[in-house]
Amino acid sequence: MLCIDVKNLSKSYGSIKAVNNLVLSVKPGRVFGFLGPNGAGKSTTIKLLTTLIPPSNGSLSILGIDAIKNPLQVRHKIGVVLQQPSYEPTLSVEKSLEKYGMMWNIPRTERKKRMEQLLKDFDLVEIRKKRNEDLSIGQRRRVQVAREFMHDMELLFLDEPTIGLDPNARRNLLDYLKNKVKTGLTIFYTTHILTEAEYLCDEIAIIDEGKIITVDSPDSLKTKFGKEKTIKIHLLEKNFDIQSFLSGIPDCKINFESGTNIIIHSEQSELVLLKVLKILNDNNIEIEDLSAVPTNLEEIFLKMVRENASDN
Ligand SMILES: Nc1ncnc2c1ncn2[C@@H]1O[C@H](COP(=O)(O)OP(=O)(O)OP(=O)(O)O)[C@@H](O)[C@H]1O
Ligand SMILES: [Mg+2]
Repeated sequence: MLCIDVKNLSKSYGSIKAVNNLVLSVKPGRVFGFLGPNGAGKSTTIKLLTTLIPPSNGSLSILGIDAIKNPLQVRHKIGVVLQQPSYEPTLSVEKSLEKYGMMWNIPRTERKKRMEQLLKDFDLVEIRKKRNEDLSIGQRRRVQVAREFMHDMELLFLDEPTIGLDPNARRNLLDYLKNKVKTGLTIFYTTHILTEAEYLCDEIAIIDEGKIITVDSPDSLKTKFGKEKTIKIHLLEKNFDIQSFLSGIPDCKINFESGTNIIIHSEQSELVLLKVLKILNDNNIEIEDLSAVPTNLEEIFLKMVRENASDN
């Protein structure tokens, strides 16, 4: 059985197609990353999949249940942390967890046990008595994510849960999630942070303007699109003729910055680099620094989104 099975799902707001003919499937026990620029349709997709808003079109099955016909049945089995902050200002951290457990009908002893564990896991012990309104943004976000784990679920939707978290808290959360996945949880996760997606996700979908551009594992995205390397050359002295010297080299894209920096993108980086070095040498141009790095997932993402925009 698929945890999420979506066919031709769309959501329009007037003339805006926030989600446009989405097709996706997520297998149990996986972390599915949903990446895209601002306004791409990530949060709208999460609201559709968690039955918070109805689709304009399409079919949607969550944990084998028809989510359009039986939204309540779905909501009992899933967890969701939305992008907007949500908290009761005057409740303390521990009371927030406790109240959430009560809402989900978790028996008292079990509730206390889970609360204590979550306070530890999310590094909230020292601030357990503090009121939500007095917390920092990152602390509040941690409470918002932690309380979702007061109840049992098979599938969890997280909409940019690490926004506002410091690097340590971010890594803690990612590792906490990884452990939960080992015990059988399935996660649908949106983020802008590519390194985070690479660390956590088994599969990544890149979405732009309501449409999925590509779905793949982080590794195969990198092999498919990441043959390209970025070469950076810093010249010892400014040279404004360099642009014309290098203009004839094939199979690459060259940018020049302030007369001293040359940035080259190419899938044939070794060959291109040899040619560039020869030209520099022939013209007695000295190099101060040179580096060649594989294009990372972030650059692949930017490239794909830009190409998608220029296709339209
Ligand atoms: N309730 C609404 N009414 C009208 N337009 C909406 C509504 N909700 C979303 N939209 C529009 O739908 C598009 C997708 O928005 P959505 O919030 O899903 O993007 P997102 O990918 O989550 O962006 P971000 O990275 O900024 O969170 C945007 O153009 C947005 O303005
Ligand atoms: Mg969003």
